Amino acid sequence: MYQNHIAKPFNHPSALASATIQPPLRVGLLGLGTVGGGTYRVLRRNAQLIADRAGRHIKICMVAVRDLERAAVLVDGDVVLTDDPFQLVQNPNLDVIVESIGGTTIARELVMLSIAAGKHVVTANKALLALHGTEIFSAACANGMMVAYEGAVAVTIPIIKALREGLTANRVNWVAGIINGTTNFVLSEMDSNGLDFDTALKEAQRKGYAEQAPTFDVDGIDAAHKLALLASNAFGIPLQFDCVHVEGIRAVEQRDVEFAKRLGFSIKLLGVAQRTARGISLRVHPALIASSNLLAHVEGSMNAVMVHGDAAGLTMYYGAGAGAEQTASAVIADLVDVSRFMGLAPQNRVPYLAFQESAMASQPMVALADICFSYYLRVDLCRGTHGLDGLAPLLEVADVQLVQSELLENPGTSEYATLLLLTASGPQQNIDALVTSIEQQAGVLGPVKRMRIECLD
Ligand code: HSE
Repeated sequence: MYQNHIAKPFNHPSALASATIQPPLRVGLLGLGTVGGGTYRVLRRNAQLIADRAGRHIKICMVAVRDLERAAVLVDGDVVLTDDPFQLVQNPNLDVIVESIGGTTIARELVMLSIAAGKHVVTANKALLALHGTEIFSAACANGMMVAYEGAVAVTIPIIKALREGLTANRVNWVAGIINGTTNFVLSEMDSNGLDFDTALKEAQRKGYAEQAPTFDVDGIDAAHKLALLASNAFGIPLQFDCVHVEGIRAVEQRDVEFAKRLGFSIKLLGVAQRTARGISLRVHPALIASSNLLAHVEGSMNAVMVHGDAAGLTMYYGAGAGAEQTASAVIADLVDVSRFMGLAPQNRVPYLAFQESAMASQPMVALADICFSYYLRVDLCRGTHGLDGLAPLLEVADVQLVQSELLENPGTSEYATLLLLTASGPQQNIDALVTSIEQQAGVLGPVKRMRIECLD
């Protein structure tokens, strides 16, 4: 253990004068990186107003880090530093553990140990909860502990609170949104500044939006983790990350972004959890959204979530989707909730996933291939080709109708023409058949690019 002796007051003197009716909430912080560091800074800066709201001080008493020397200059002198996270979670003088080390191995072990040691847990680790949430919530329930995770989904947007509390009267029909800040930043940069994918991703990493492994962002996995949490809260189904259809944005080219704009759409990575007549559909994929839809105007690293409930109708939530202090905002809100509810009997607290554990029930899942969509198709044609002869019979055989088509001859500096097609909504198998037959036509270059059009109606 390392005691940091550089004495600096954690709280402003006036902070000590009020809101001290209850003893402070004693917090152990695992990690002092982006989320942990942001949490520490915001708690210190806004100590008094947070105490005024919580009715007690929220005090980070102990921090576990790899690099003690670095941490010693970041935290105040009365904070105990350790490089042994297992020692931290066993400390009997802590009420709550903030897990901000990320990953799903050691984080899982530490969270389970914290719960077993009688500590509440706050985490923004969506991967951990999407993969091991059932086990974690079950252990927490058995031990009467809270596990709060508002920062795990759409960061600053209190969407878990909205689903668990504000919309609790509703039968939720669907939840859809932009729930990954990195990919939204990349797509926005490709659109507004004409950046290519790699340059835009590097910039997102530089700004600290991306995960340690940015593949989780660009391949849609991070959004799928968040969607699994949203779906459980919306529909009362168990966490089922494995049931999410996941496609990322690697295949989206800058010219698709341009073409979509030309046709009146934006390309966004969407997460959609939808109740259908045949069951629940969970999907993350890039989609064209009409520019008249509010989601089309969510730019940069911002997130937005729409919820459709039978009583409330459509509600929409918007806020920063990544960032250190942005995540801290949610983590600290969770700490305040823990502080408020720890005196309550567990059965009187808000359930982990919105529904009482005994009321959670599986529902049939619907494969993405069984859902009808309209499609954007991009057909590249050889130089000198003026359109696609014989398209009409192909459409007829595949039973696909077009709502728009546009031929761009030699767009930009490329050496070919491009045919853009927007189809009417139809079964995926019909689109598959159409695409296969188009790809076999003379003059067609390479595979046909296709993307779903999401109507959200
Ligand atoms: N990498 C995540 C994102 C961070 O870009 O959305 C917030 O979950």
